[in-house]
Amino acid sequence: MEKIRPKEIILKNGETLILREANEEDAKDLIDYLNTVGGESDNLLFGKDEFHLTIEQEIQYIKKVANDSNTLMIIGVVNNSIVSVGQISCLPRKRISHNSEIAISVKKDYWRKGIGSAVMEELISFAQNHNLIKNISLGVKASNHNAIRMYEKFGFKTIGIHKNYFNVNGIYDDELIMDLYLDK
Ligand SMILES: CC(C)(COP(=O)(O)OP(=O)(O)OC[C@H]1O[C@@H](n2cnc3c(N)ncnc32)[C@H](O)[C@@H]1OP(=O)(O)O)[C@@H](O)C(=O)NCCC(=O)NCCS
Repeated sequence: MEKIRPKEIILKNGETLILREANEEDAKDLIDYLNTVGGESDNLLFGKDEFHLTIEQEIQYIKKVANDSNTLMIIGVVNNSIVSVGQISCLPRKRISHNSEIAISVKKDYWRKGIGSAVMEELISFAQNHNLIKNISLGVKASNHNAIRMYEKFGFKTIGIHKNYFNVNGIYDDELIMDLYLDK
């Protein structure tokens, strides 16, 4: 079940970014990618080498996502290497399944080249065209100003705060809850 067509985008530095759904052959690269980006900022839910799925488990996860019309995982590829992962999923319970959640990361070498924005556009467009989704939510560390600016650029509004939600090596920080209500 193809949910998005692969897309080529020329980045601000002239390189070509391919945005596409992940497939089983991406499993090892995805694990390596997540273990790398985990160590590149303190803003994700895991740190360096803290993403512990085996290749077989990751393959099963990719298959599950591919067969789930309520979830989209997009990878960004430059020169055959994964530089970004974004995901949107509906909440699983029927009564709240019109609410979705997103998560996004970009490899540090590729920050500020428009990749985060390109992935956000795809995720929001998926939600706009989805028969269920009416709301997109996300959680972001209060000190992650770059991500917050990006979400605000796409119309997300802060609707709440989880106090001291994050504990990164003993340093606590709040989580901002941000929502985008789709006009449909
Ligand atoms: C947040 C993140 C996804 C942004 O990705 P990116 O590819 O750098 O994003 P873009 O180049 O498309 O920039 C998107 C917007 O973010 C904001 N932004 C990003 N980096 C910024 C910076 N250093 N200074 C100011 N604004 C910044 C700007 O609003 C920018 O829009 P603009 O270029 O039109 O001004 C990336 O920094 C990242 O992966 N960080 C680590 C993981 C993370 O924080 N994920 C989000 C967890 S909630």
